[in-house]
Amino acid sequence: MDAGNTMSANPIMISPTTFRSGVRAEDRELVRQIVSATGYFSPSEIAVAVELVDEFLVKGAASGYQFIFAERGGRTLGYACFGHIAVTTHSFDLYWVAVRPEFQKEGIGRALVRQAEAAIASQGGKRVYAETSSREQYGPTRAFYERCGYKVDAVQDEFYGPGDGKVVYAKVLS
Ligand SMILES: CC(C)(COP(=O)(O)OP(=O)(O)OC[C@H]1O[C@@H](n2cnc3c(N)ncnc32)[C@H](O)[C@@H]1OP(=O)(O)O)[C@@H](O)C(=O)NCCC(=O)NCCS
Repeated sequence: MDAGNTMSANPIMISPTTFRSGVRAEDRELVRQIVSATGYFSPSEIAVAVELVDEFLVKGAASGYQFIFAERGGRTLGYACFGHIAVTTHSFDLYWVAVRPEFQKEGIGRALVRQAEAAIASQGGKRVYAETSSREQYGPTRAFYERCGYKVDAVQDEFYGPGDGKVVYAKVLS
């Protein structure tokens, strides 16, 4: 389904999905809500997601973090956070992609990844990396990255803990 499809007379459904890269003070709470609502992340991971927004609010571009927010009908439905990997010439990390559960499977996550990739390419980026867990719970996340064109680049067994490896996905931008 396209992120901008119309489904009913509900204003949030008939509005198009738009994207913005500017970060506002209220985004720290929105990021907390969105990441928490997915049910995928621990309290410490949620705190890290919010810290990245705080870093950007204090340091701006010098934080190394960039954001894209997906909005519809005045509501923020999801976001992506990415940034240049400091010691590389052309590699970027896709740190976070999260979409509110009630708006998942509508193409918003893919659109956020595409927006991030376009921004990365415009900055000379050629390789994008995304990391996730090998645990069964993250099967849908791995499927999402694969459907977005990412390939498994490395697997580090037991990285996060017993039975919890790290899967590194990579995509070469054309
Ligand atoms: C992963 C996530 C961002 C996907 O967002 P989304 O808006 O639902 O994704 P899209 O609708 O754009 O789907 C893009 C593709 O991924 C696939 N996909 C999405 N969710 C999937 C799932 N749960 N299982 C299998 N495939 C899935 C879709 O089928 C689609 O592929 P297709 O068009 O070829 O059929 C969202 O589910 C989420 O926030 N999950 C929790 C947080 C997370 O794991 N984030 C990533 C690590 S930081």
